[in-house]
Amino acid sequence: MCGIVGYIGQKDSKEILLKGLEKLEYRGYDSAGIAVMNENGVHVFKEKGRIATLREEVDPTVEASVGIGHTRWATHGVPSKVNAHPHQANTGRFTIVHNGVIENYAQLKEEYLQHVELKSDTDTEIVVQVLEQFVNQGLEVEAAFRKTLSVLKGSYAIALLDEQNKETIFVAKNKSPLLVGLGDNFNVVASDAMAMLQVTDQYIELMDKEIVIVTKESVTIKNLAGETINRDPYTAELDASDIEKGTYPHYMLKEIDEQPLVMRKIVQQYQNEQGELTIDSAILDAMNEADRIYIIAAGTSYHAGLVGKQFIEKMAHIPVEVHVSSEFSYNMPLLSKNPLFVFISQSGETADSRGVLVHVKDLGYKALTITNVPGSTLSREADYTLLLHAGPEIAVASTKAYTAQMAVLSILAYVTAQSKGLMVGMDLVKELGIIANSMEVLCDDKEEMEAIAREYLSTTRNCFFIGRALDFYVGLEGALKLKEISYIQAEGFAGGELKHGTIALIEDGTPIIALATQEHVNLSIRGNVKEVVARGANPCIISMKGLETNEDRYVLPVVNDMLTPLISVIPLQLISYYAALHRDCDVDKPRNLAKSVTVE
Ligand code: F6R
Repeated sequence: MCGIVGYIGQKDSKEILLKGLEKLEYRGYDSAGIAVMNENGVHVFKEKGRIATLREEVDPTVEASVGIGHTRWATHGVPSKVNAHPHQANTGRFTIVHNGVIENYAQLKEEYLQHVELKSDTDTEIVVQVLEQFVNQGLEVEAAFRKTLSVLKGSYAIALLDEQNKETIFVAKNKSPLLVGLGDNFNVVASDAMAMLQVTDQYIELMDKEIVIVTKESVTIKNLAGETINRDPYTAELDASDIEKGTYPHYMLKEIDEQPLVMRKIVQQYQNEQGELTIDSAILDAMNEADRIYIIAAGTSYHAGLVGKQFIEKMAHIPVEVHVSSEFSYNMPLLSKNPLFVFISQSGETADSRGVLVHVKDLGYKALTITNVPGSTLSREADYTLLLHAGPEIAVASTKAYTAQMAVLSILAYVTAQSKGLMVGMDLVKELGIIANSMEVLCDDKEEMEAIAREYLSTTRNCFFIGRALDFYVGLEGALKLKEISYIQAEGFAGGELKHGTIALIEDGTPIIALATQEHVNLSIRGNVKEVVARGANPCIISMKGLETNEDRYVLPVVNDMLTPLISVIPLQLISYYAALHRDCDVDKPRNLAKSVTVE
């Protein structure tokens, strides 16, 4: 969470920083700030709220060719102007922006800052105040920076300005993502290449516990011992138009509409010259050697993992467990003899998942990451990667990454099954083509989705999603989508589970969205619908052609029974979108959330 940017060059830095922060707003949007440095010193502008609010704060007459910026998702200290970054040490000489969490901030405060008056409630201010103490003790700034980093415990991506070093931005990274971008007579710093694509596509990845001395002509990477490290830049292969909304009112709607295209792209990317689906043989070997697969993920990615388990078990006959990453390390199950860990993460940066990855790698196990972001931390640190090819997902609520995750998991299961000589009984290339076409039909039916949202959700306080088998997992995802963007209390339940307690919440008119796409449980889910209707619920049954009755509110086109989650989620995404719109919610940036959750 939180996004940071920096620029050092010849142009005025303000607009470059603000534009960069706008691109990073998905990482947090509680408050934002920039600090720019010129011959008169460092000028800090910060405000609670979005970048648009910060823009109004920035003095247009101040010109400076060096600057750093930050958009915040609060961890220590409420969102406020005082707690917004940048933070300064008391003399004003040092100014810092930070992404991450300093776990030992209280201890550092006790040890180094007993007589220092702190201005904010943030862990970040502790870092810059400790640095100033080390400089006061006689250390040069770079040495003081290294010493400060060596006493920090936790995660950080830091950019630092020193008023007495006007030609430099000091940068450091541990666990939180950070890149340095290279230009002609300028250089930049960013949490994500997207932020600075406006000025360069050449980036150098930083590794944990590295510091970088950035001037407009040079970038010097060092380890904490002060030894210089050489690393070549790479070209960020992002299309700037991918990260624009175009004519769409919201990124979420654009990303929902992109799903058919993403399906086709995934098939293309995983096909060989003969048109057969294929996966790197090292990954297939790892799958085949595993006696059990442990899928680790959070949120929507966890929901994709639940569906993935069914694909792998049913097609490839390998037992799978699916775990929420934030729980796994603290409550580790008894592991099998030859486990393979599969991490599913859109961003590839989720700290909870990374914590598990580090742990299982320490135990000597192999890991595969399924991610949308090449070069992300989870991808770099795992043994193998499968990419989603969904293009940048900007809206906080994940949509196209979820369906892409399920599609890639189906390919993984399918190709593994083929490598074992198992009969799967379908042609997955053809089936994913049908999925893409069906997604198109659903995306074209927005008026109907809007009508459903209006009819069932415009005034309700709560909503339940029910389903059985695969439909249950999609219901969990539907509930997450609805609650995160419309703030309607929404829960997903296995159809048969409701009567074991939750049915007590059903009142006259309570909306129940029931999925009925699975033939083998069609009658039983309809029985569960009857139970809630008898208690006053207002049911919205979404079924599939061939299984429909005249009670159903929406009927999906037919797709392969095992792949229904790839399309049944589309109405749920669209209904959530329109419910949020009807309630005047900020669809792309729901309250309290951030796209990339880089704190544990
Ligand atoms: C919900 C959503 C989150 C993420 C979760 C994991 O719409 O996007 O629940 O799925 O934070 O993020 P990744 O997939 O980046 O690890």
